[in-house]
Amino acid sequence: MQSVTEIKSLRSQVKAWRQQGLSIAFVPTMGNLHRGHFSLVEKAKTLADKVVVSIFVNPMQFGANEDLDSYPRTLEQDKQGLAELETDILFTPSVDTIYPSGLEAQSFVDVPGVSEGHCGGARPGHFRGVATVVTKLFNLVQPDFACFGEKDFQQLQVIKTMVKDLSIPVEVIGVPTQREVSGLAMSSRNGYLSESEKETAKVLFQALKKAASALEQGEKDFDLIIKNAIDMLHNEGLKLDYFNICQKDTLRPATLEDDRLVILAAAFLGKVRLIDNIQVSL
Ligand code: PAJ
Repeated sequence: MQSVTEIKSLRSQVKAWRQQGLSIAFVPTMGNLHRGHFSLVEKAKTLADKVVVSIFVNPMQFGANEDLDSYPRTLEQDKQGLAELETDILFTPSVDTIYPSGLEAQSFVDVPGVSEGHCGGARPGHFRGVATVVTKLFNLVQPDFACFGEKDFQQLQVIKTMVKDLSIPVEVIGVPTQREVSGLAMSSRNGYLSESEKETAKVLFQALKKAASALEQGEKDFDLIIKNAIDMLHNEGLKLDYFNICQKDTLRPATLEDDRLVILAAAFLGKVRLIDNIQVSL
């Protein structure tokens, strides 16, 4: 595996591959890699000749009171995992490399509609930061394919929408959420939880599964389904952020006519914000 920090070296390797007619799949991450991230790399390997992974904790997508400084950084361990998977290039740019003029003077990409509400409502500016850095990374890596986890379902839809709206020549591939045996979705932020909190945190996916099966069984009263889910979360001491039944592509509130749905949820366990989702086909 080649470790690259400079744009120039990345571009020259990508150019050489292109001249040889090789295809490229890309997996952008913020590091502290776990089985969820590795499943994206494994998927990427099936799609293209060469795989590029980036690790960049993107300041532009963190709010002022969020965990940018404390976000887990485990580069040596991440490198080992990626080398074992035979990743071709690990790209780890510095903040100055990605934002040479600082964050203030930075052009940005906004994806209205799909980035509003849910995590976008709770974290203003978050998806602007994500869309901007992913556009920059796409322009640097110029991949044929890019893999994103369904774990961050709104992020996946924001990227898909952006790629379509702006005719970016990349195929976006969604990869299913990897979970602990308990059902808890794997996340770098789970490292902030104690073992007993991890046990408690599994209730988020349990509430999503219960809501999904109510919909599948023909329950039409969305408010009731949501209320039952919120009760489940509160009983375990989680603080609700949102629990929304949505149309799968637009993420607008679902109507009784919609048959492709996703339930998006976020809740706090102490200071840790958990997110998860479940897709439902009726
Ligand atoms: P990060 O949180 O590191 O996630 C990188 C990728 O891994 C995302 O596509 C995310 O959805 C996926 N992922 C995380 N946990 C997963 C799980 N349990 N199962 C499957 N996939 C999982 O998401 C980001 O970084 C950033 O916003 C980024 C896209 C890199 C832009 O900065």
